Amino acid sequence: MTYETFARKYRPKNFQQVVGQETVVKTLSNAIKLGRVSHAYIFAGSRGLGKTTIARIITKCLNCEEGITENPCGKCENCREIEKGSFPDMYEIDAASNRGIDDIRTIRDNVSYAPIKGRYKVYIIDEAHMLTREAFNALLKTLEEPPPNNIFILATTELHKIPDTIRSRCQTFIFKPPTKKQITEYLKRILEEEGIEYEKDALQLISEASNGGVRDAASILDQAVIYGGGQVKKETTAQLLGVIPEEITKNFLLALKNKDIKEMVKIVEKLDREGYDITVFWNQILSKIHKHMINLLTEEKSDIFEKNDIEYLIYTNDIFKKGYLEAKNFFDKKDILQLSILKLRFMKNLVPLKEIIEKGITVQEKREEKPKEKKFDLQKAILKAGKEAGGIVAGALKNANIKEEDDRFVIMVDKTIADLITDKLEIIKKHFPKPVVIEEIQIKTERKKPKKRDEAVDKVLELFQGKIISYKEE
Ligand SMILES: Nc1ncnc2c1ncn2[C@@H]1O[C@H](COP(=O)(O)OP(=O)(O)OP(=O)(O)O)[C@@H](O)[C@H]1O
Ligand SMILES: [Mg+2]
Ligand SMILES: [Zn+2]
Repeated sequence: MTYETFARKYRPKNFQQVVGQETVVKTLSNAIKLGRVSHAYIFAGSRGLGKTTIARIITKCLNCEEGITENPCGKCENCREIEKGSFPDMYEIDAASNRGIDDIRTIRDNVSYAPIKGRYKVYIIDEAHMLTREAFNALLKTLEEPPPNNIFILATTELHKIPDTIRSRCQTFIFKPPTKKQITEYLKRILEEEGIEYEKDALQLISEASNGGVRDAASILDQAVIYGGGQVKKETTAQLLGVIPEEITKNFLLALKNKDIKEMVKIVEKLDREGYDITVFWNQILSKIHKHMINLLTEEKSDIFEKNDIEYLIYTNDIFKKGYLEAKNFFDKKDILQLSILKLRFMKNLVPLKEIIEKGITVQEKREEKPKEKKFDLQKAILKAGKEAGGIVAGALKNANIKEEDDRFVIMVDKTIADLITDKLEIIKKHFPKPVVIEEIQIKTERKKPKKRDEAVDKVLELFQGKIISYKEE
């Protein structure tokens, strides 16, 4: 006996059975009712959302022996053949394997013939984005002068790969994943029809694991029934999906609450050893932390954390999220996640959030090493100090000899202007990162630097690798 998968067995036979896709269903059934069916459609959306299914339903609507209807009978020969995929006027072309121009040419030649059995010939081109450029061009010709009684449905998971020239001649429908609730309802319907026992929480898990794919949800359900020995229980389903048991995540969060780094590291170690996907675990932990934070904010307590843990959770969440993103790209996922647990130990060095909010600044508590300062620019400081202190001082500072020592700046100026500068010392100091002192010196006026260099001298210097040791006034 061959077993018919749920996806096949429960493939919708009419619009009412379709899960989600309300807009698509409504527009199409109205179009059929009003006799306004377009000759070309694009059905875009991820896998297993019902693109092919709806294309077949349309084919039935147009070819049901009882007449064109948005509610095909499903019993007549045409309807049954369409359901089986053997209706001679329904062409299902897989563009992934028939990408070429020849296949499209065949269609082109075919469009001029009348339908064999039905009223309309329907061409369902699956994975339409895979067609070659020539094939698209050939298709375009057909779409430009559509012969009557031919309908094209291009299904694709990658709409952006369909050329604009084609898109502008088709009516496009975007298929969106149904809600989790719609998927659990769908699963429930199947199980009840089949008379299979189930636990609601298990359906929740399947719906989450399906990521919105209806076909995926149905095939996980197939596996869950087999794995559960004919029942769909939460525990077995969780095992099947590799979902980490609730008590393990709970223990981890308790260890987090108690800042028990060792225990957290151990839990990760154990999960990894038992073959769980620890990034899945981490993701679960992240969403739990998020839930607890929200609970604390709205209800002041959660079953593990207390109100004043919020800050700790915010930081933890940050650190863990970074770890998660990193781990996703690295081979040693466990190491990275364990490292982010270790990072929690150094959290005490962080400034309490309250302080940041009150002061409106983001300072960190002083560490052993000095924070890196912006590089001090002496020239800028001199200019600024001069500007603030006033004209004469500005000039004096510019000409002064300033040296930086370990713990201070020394401004060496001629005796004659030392007092002038000392008067403005308070102003000047503000522009320097270390204390500033004034030192009086005797500036020798007799030695002047040459205003212009003599090219000949430069040449000689270069030639002899020499150095100027003194100048003589002319
Ligand atoms: N919206 C839906 N409602 C109910 N069942 C659905 C829906 N979408 C998909 N399914 C189930 O999944 C199976 C596959 O659906 P279908 O072939 O229509 O998906 P598709 O969007 O064409 O996917 P693909 O891009 O992989 O071709 C169907 O047999 C059906 O059981
Ligand atoms: Mg399909
Ligand atoms: Zn029919």
